[in-house]
Amino acid sequence: MVEEEIVKIQAVALERVRGAHLPEDLERVRVEVLGRKGKLAEISKEMGKLAPEERARVGKLLNAAKQAIEDAIDERQPQFREATLRARLDAEWLDLTLPAPGPRAGSLHPITQIQMELEDLFTSLGFMVLDGPEAETEYHNFDALNIPAEHPARDAQDTFWLTDGNLLRTHTSPVQVRGMERFRPPLRMVAPGRVFRNESVDASHEHTFYQLEGMMIDRDVSVAHLLYFMQTLLREIFHRHVTVRLRPGFFPFVEPGFELDIQCFICGGQGCAVCKQSGWVELLPCGLVNPNVLRISGIDPDTWNGFAFGLGLTRLVMMRYGIDDIRLLQSGDLRFLQQF
Ligand code: DAH
Repeated sequence: MVEEEIVKIQAVALERVRGAHLPEDLERVRVEVLGRKGKLAEISKEMGKLAPEERARVGKLLNAAKQAIEDAIDERQPQFREATLRARLDAEWLDLTLPAPGPRAGSLHPITQIQMELEDLFTSLGFMVLDGPEAETEYHNFDALNIPAEHPARDAQDTFWLTDGNLLRTHTSPVQVRGMERFRPPLRMVAPGRVFRNESVDASHEHTFYQLEGMMIDRDVSVAHLLYFMQTLLREIFHRHVTVRLRPGFFPFVEPGFELDIQCFICGGQGCAVCKQSGWVELLPCGLVNPNVLRISGIDPDTWNGFAFGLGLTRLVMMRYGIDDIRLLQSGDLRFLQQF
């Protein structure tokens, strides 16, 4: 009886080992048949009840069965290990002979690129590159530029005022004043930088944008000089001849003052969304320096005069690359930035 049972247990176990699909199947046989609470262990517990010579026979049979099952398991186990390893190697396959992709190169922001090109150009024309503070005094941002106390630009709707009475500069023009205070004429300077306006943001307005200020003070400076420098600047940026037109424009720090427009080359002057159907894009306000501005900074307007301009760097980048939403420039979105 007992012997038959052992033979049956062995047969079933060997069948299970042979038919195992996973390493876990083998483990289950080991626990259920060979384990401390397994089927064979149960039988050995009963052996005390048997007659001595029967006990010897059953004992032998039991050991043989254990051995046979263990051997069968040990034989199959390496096959599973190999299969598992092969599956892992297939899944984690890596071609080490491929060349390394290398570090991903970054690039300069398009505004920085244009700013550096213009700095190089103006340096080659004998201009200094000056820096000024972004948190400015009311005096440098407004008073010294001949902007009257009641001028609407000073309003909190347009200007970010700081609690100490200073402000975030609304244009780069205060650097003109700082340049005149620090260096005496003749004077040629440009001042690129960030400016701030209390504006609601949309596709064509930002509260933070970039300008490049320029100023030249010398003797007998004329509008012809101004135009020469402006056209040189535009040719350098756009790498082609740019058709311009001058319109009168009012800025308290220049007299006469102009709006210099360029013909829209997104539509070639036909009219499109970028030029708001007019064929022209307002790009470069400029003019001859108002004598009051010279006088306020201690320069004699009977001896010296000059021109000044305030280029919208952000606008220029948008024109050069045909970008129709100003917000992209400060989005930090790599899909946008990687194009430059
Ligand atoms: N500062 C002016 C602005 O932000 C732009 C400007 C106009 C600057 C005429 C100039 C200039 O130097 O001559 O609106």
